[in-house]
Amino acid sequence: MFMLVQIGAQAQQKSAAGKPKKISPDLFGIFFEDLSYAADGGLYAELIQNRSFEYSQADNREWNPMTAWKYQTDGFGYGTTLQLKLAPVHPNNPHYILLDVQDEGQNGVGIENAGFDGIPVRAGKTYNFSVFLNVISAQSLQVKVALVDRKGKELGSSAFTATEKDWKKYAEQIHINFDDDSAKLVLLIKSKGKVGVDMVSLFPEVTFKHHENGMRADLAQMIADIKPKFMRFPGGCLTHGDGVANIYRWKNTIGPVEQRIEQRNIWNYHQSVGLGYFEYFQFCEDIGAKPVPVLAAGVSCQNSGGTWRIGSTGQKGIPMEEMKAYVQDVLDLIEYANGPVTSTWGAKRATAGHPAPFHLEYLGIGNEDKITGVFEERFRMIYDAVRKAHPEIKIIGTVGPSPDGEDFDKGWKLADQLSVGIVDEHYYEKPQWFLKNTARYDAYNRLRSKVYIGEYASWGNTLFNALSEAVYMTSLERNGDVVRMASYAPLIARIGHTSWNPNLIYFNGNKVFPTVNYYVQQQFATNSGDEYLPGVIKLEGEKTVNDTTTGVSCVRDVATGDVILKIANANNTSVAGAADLSKFEKLPKLAVLTVISGAPEAKNSADNPQTILPKSSVINLRKKWYFTVPAYSLSVVRITAGAADKRK
Ligand code: AHR
Repeated sequence: MFMLVQIGAQAQQKSAAGKPKKISPDLFGIFFEDLSYAADGGLYAELIQNRSFEYSQADNREWNPMTAWKYQTDGFGYGTTLQLKLAPVHPNNPHYILLDVQDEGQNGVGIENAGFDGIPVRAGKTYNFSVFLNVISAQSLQVKVALVDRKGKELGSSAFTATEKDWKKYAEQIHINFDDDSAKLVLLIKSKGKVGVDMVSLFPEVTFKHHENGMRADLAQMIADIKPKFMRFPGGCLTHGDGVANIYRWKNTIGPVEQRIEQRNIWNYHQSVGLGYFEYFQFCEDIGAKPVPVLAAGVSCQNSGGTWRIGSTGQKGIPMEEMKAYVQDVLDLIEYANGPVTSTWGAKRATAGHPAPFHLEYLGIGNEDKITGVFEERFRMIYDAVRKAHPEIKIIGTVGPSPDGEDFDKGWKLADQLSVGIVDEHYYEKPQWFLKNTARYDAYNRLRSKVYIGEYASWGNTLFNALSEAVYMTSLERNGDVVRMASYAPLIARIGHTSWNPNLIYFNGNKVFPTVNYYVQQQFATNSGDEYLPGVIKLEGEKTVNDTTTGVSCVRDVATGDVILKIANANNTSVAGAADLSKFEKLPKLAVLTVISGAPEAKNSADNPQTILPKSSVINLRKKWYFTVPAYSLSVVRITAGAADKRK
């Protein structure tokens, strides 16, 4: 087993100079917000846009129930489409299309969907199609579904007969014969007659972990490869919403997809909520991340109805007479995640296919809200109720949108009064801010609330940005006794639909582009520890832990015994130093060194996705390991405990 005793004179924290220090085992995670088409058109593998005809002007002034759809008749047939709300599939999902085919012509009459910037399909792959139909005419109807290219060439199709004189789900598989990045789906009725059409859906047969209603495999895998310790969801501003009516209500997002209550996204598009709370919990489980749901603190976003970030007075509270029910919704979420299958909400989880609990441990209440009387009153109600009913849940409070200022101070004051376990700090700043503030948490009072940095990023995706974050992250490890969690934000964005930049991962219909910042996050998350070992690494010259361009850390993963060294250098010159490994027992001869380096302005893009990639090599270890790391680099050395034994 590796052992470390106090070494070196460089005390990195006055209170525990030189001694190993327990740090958070959940330090580096991710924050998923349905922003920039992160859910629909993104992680959620559904390929049909506006499958339920619920788009409206409330989402976007240009939108209506036929957005992304077109009437289709290319075989001289004719008929009409009507948008109806009478007798829908489910009252929660009111709109559908009535197709009245008066002459089916040669090819039938129907509708076609453009997907999200086209539907990407691949030859040899199978796609799962489904639709709800309600045959209104006396006779059965012949139905054809096809994927076609822009010129109308058929890429794959299937046919079936619709008979049921009520809403019924029909499911078909479509095998594709040609690649196409922007196919369209065509649904054609090839008989005269009337039929209601709703919930037109197309998924790749293979989704992440093969779940029905699942996630897009490549994007999900890219996220999983970070190996995040936790995932915060479903937002951000999306959570507290654009006005009280737009607050994200988790209960609207579970159950059969055709019965969920869709709604406008605060980021000016539509949420089908096909990726809802069940799917979020399941995805967290799939990627080994602890779920961290965030619920509104009974108030809407302070920017509601106003210009983003001008500080409008749009915060509104849920009326007090409705707060009892809202608080109950919060308690019910805990039961949904953790309750036995015999409980009301645990039973719903089991019905969805997951009788085992989701092991909810953390719960966020509020998102960078303005700390007003309206907020405080509601936050306290929720906080007290959760504490009383579920003392086992770790509540995360909120301290405004900035690293300082009025809401920050008021939020912390409230956290002190209530002894909130963890508070959520947010900051989006220049890279220089991160480099200058590496001592931020050294001075934090260890007796106050712990910190979750729920959102942070330097403004950009260059290597220099990523390194400023890396330098800062070494300071988070050093302060991992007070900083419990941290997540870069935002996580993913669809190219052409970005509401926010920068992001950690960009994607289009069929490709995923990790940024340099992604690789930095991945290095820290995959090389985290639960013990911080101060003083192991020393840099030459005058460099100190508060230096504005470099950061070092040494952590140990107690379970495996692995020790990890990190040296982040945002300097324009190389940096030399030494790691004193003499106190490690059974030091292996070799270790793996991973380096991310390059020109400071370099970045990965859709055109040049591999400009900067981590490079790994095997290095020889000595009791005193001398190193010189390049200018603008992050170096991570993983010393594997098991490797020591194997080499004996
Ligand atoms: O991450 C993007 C947005 O930034 C979040 O929705 C919000 O919490 C913050 O202001």
